[in-house]
Amino acid sequence: MAGNGTNGGGEPVAIGKSMLRRDAPDKVMGAAQYPADIDLPGQLWLKLRFSDRVHARITSVDTSAAEALPGVVAVYTAKDVPHNEYGLVIKDQPVLCGLGGINPAADTVRCYMDCVAVVVAETEAIAAEAVKLIQVGYEDLPGVFDMEHALRPETPQIHPNWQGNKFSHYKLRKGDMAAGFADADVIVEGTYETGYQEHAFLQPEAGLAYIDDEGRVTVVVAGQWAHEDLWQVSHALGLPHDRVRIIYPAVGGAFGGREDMSVQIVLALAAMKLGRPVKTQWSREESILYHHKRHPFHIQTKWGAKRDGTITAISATLLGDAGPYAYTSTKVVANAALLGSGPYECENLHIDAIAVVTNNIPSGAFRGFGAPQAMFAAEGQINKLAAALGMDPVAIRMKNGYRDGSITSVQTPVVPGCTLIEVLDACARESYWPTQADGAWVKSDIPQPRDPALRRGVGLSVGMKNIGYSFGYPEHSWAGVELRGKDSIDEVIVRAVGAEVGQGSHTAFVQMAAEAVGVPVEKVRLESHDTTLMGSSGSASASRLTFMQGNAIRGAAQKALEAWAHEERPAVGIFEYNPPKTTPFDPETGYCDPNFAYAYTAMAVEVEVDIETGHVRLERVVSINDVGRAINPQLIVGQVEGGVVQAQGYALMENLISKEGRILNPYLSTYLIPTALDVPTEVKTVILEYADRVGPFGVRGVAELPLIPLAPAIAAAVHDATGVWVDQIPMTPDRVVKALRAHGIGAVV
Ligand code: MOS
Repeated sequence: MAGNGTNGGGEPVAIGKSMLRRDAPDKVMGAAQYPADIDLPGQLWLKLRFSDRVHARITSVDTSAAEALPGVVAVYTAKDVPHNEYGLVIKDQPVLCGLGGINPAADTVRCYMDCVAVVVAETEAIAAEAVKLIQVGYEDLPGVFDMEHALRPETPQIHPNWQGNKFSHYKLRKGDMAAGFADADVIVEGTYETGYQEHAFLQPEAGLAYIDDEGRVTVVVAGQWAHEDLWQVSHALGLPHDRVRIIYPAVGGAFGGREDMSVQIVLALAAMKLGRPVKTQWSREESILYHHKRHPFHIQTKWGAKRDGTITAISATLLGDAGPYAYTSTKVVANAALLGSGPYECENLHIDAIAVVTNNIPSGAFRGFGAPQAMFAAEGQINKLAAALGMDPVAIRMKNGYRDGSITSVQTPVVPGCTLIEVLDACARESYWPTQADGAWVKSDIPQPRDPALRRGVGLSVGMKNIGYSFGYPEHSWAGVELRGKDSIDEVIVRAVGAEVGQGSHTAFVQMAAEAVGVPVEKVRLESHDTTLMGSSGSASASRLTFMQGNAIRGAAQKALEAWAHEERPAVGIFEYNPPKTTPFDPETGYCDPNFAYAYTAMAVEVEVDIETGHVRLERVVSINDVGRAINPQLIVGQVEGGVVQAQGYALMENLISKEGRILNPYLSTYLIPTALDVPTEVKTVILEYADRVGPFGVRGVAELPLIPLAPAIAAAVHDATGVWVDQIPMTPDRVVKALRAHGIGAVV
């Protein structure tokens, strides 16, 4: 491609350097404005009335008492929403549940996250008071909270769109299962359970909507994909795309939790109807109660292998609890299906993965997107096979792991440039498997604590993650580059709307633009976070943004440089990047080309288990990450360290309790996430750079990688320390104690 810098073959001018984040000074100084920090003169306040019932038909909604309260400006219900439906992948959720309006499915609430009405008032306190005055009549329907129950034929269907209470049922079929298990010398069966996880981003949902000076309904909000927000708002309000505008100010974290709508549509509705600025802000409790969670999974699986470690057969059933609306469940569970057999070659395979409709809180995107759940089971299985065969866990992975030319679980070759083996090799060497003279892998002994109640162990796991959208979902990214100056380029303006959610993407965009044009980063100015600037960049998700936005920026830079060469001033280039095509599962066999790029990771951990209390202390993590090309190495280390702590919470601590669809611990005092006192003593991050074939400058991605291998590596380390497998996460002390006592370990006082 064009440009100077690395494109011209010389030393990089801007990438591969740990330059300071562009957004850091404002955030550190407290100057950055997050949605709740922004106020406009004459603004009104909005509050939502959420459902009082988990599953019920609405018989009446009486808003008269709320409307009569002094200071209330408007109350909106289902009949006021022009197209009363929304959803990121499938529009199956009413904006407001209730009577009247165009959506017949809106007459029923199906979870506590459903909304019945919107109150707009002169103050936040009045809006909060008025919300309580709305009288809603309900006729209760039976609730379905258990996945096996939901799938039974006699169980009533929860949502008219979703027959059999399934959003999707993926089937991967390959080879001959009977022959595969007959060939096995050992067979290991396992049942794995993974829990909910709450995103716990720094800033709860908030936003402000107003009519801008060109008459557009404008929403200022924190999200992950500004254009998608725009499309969903414009659909629900029945407005053309060019009558809606989305602006992101600073975004206080996302992790998948801002992929779906929260306050966008209702704010826009109120601003459109009233012509005045309208603001809202959720409390932490509302945030935990009313945005989606990571899917809990139940996984039953059976693996067979020969004496030499060759896997001969894998069967697995993966059930993901999706709640009553689709969100991204069809995609999350597809990704889990793909990794139901881990990153391992196997000729005989039978996988069912189902996104199950229940009346629990909706599940959706969360960093890792189905991979952490599937890999917890798959890595557990390969570790148990290794133990049953007396093989080393590194050796069995070396034998079966994907490498270039491998045929994957969906019967097509893995994307070229597969580096799972390289990543695993580096992880073993950098951690507890020093090189042996004869090339065998042997775990080194670690010192044991003197206290007999404390046992140390080590464990290892691998992981892989697709970069970009999968299974044929439309994938593209736009960027614009403008070169200003006369004889030389004095300033480069990049227009790219990809979201900075705290991961450092905007700094990476600037570095890649500087590299593509061949100027120092100081000459580059980024304009972003506003849908009026440029076409869609796609979401800050699927670990895709550096890859996708980077290729768009490179393409735009090339066009701008060509215009510059033709003496155009300013010289402008606009470019849409399209990656290689992907395809969906064949409905009977699962055959497909699911992804165009992957990144690979491996982790080794050391834990200390207190066999009296069941506490598992994560001491040390060695994290190997093939990111393709490190645009900003320090930001990658930050991603890994943050991801490790988030994964640590997922594996050990974060225990969101849902009873009959209601979350019982919606507070950070009762839903415990890791603090500074919990983090590992050491996280050693190693960055590998095996270039991707189409990524910009070779970039793959990193964001989701650390979430994938940590939990299974901890489970392996707990087994190494105690001889007991814990197959349920989070591995809270009570669960660990129960598992240990079942094997006669630890005192029974
Ligand atoms: Mo993500 S879980 O792809 O926002």
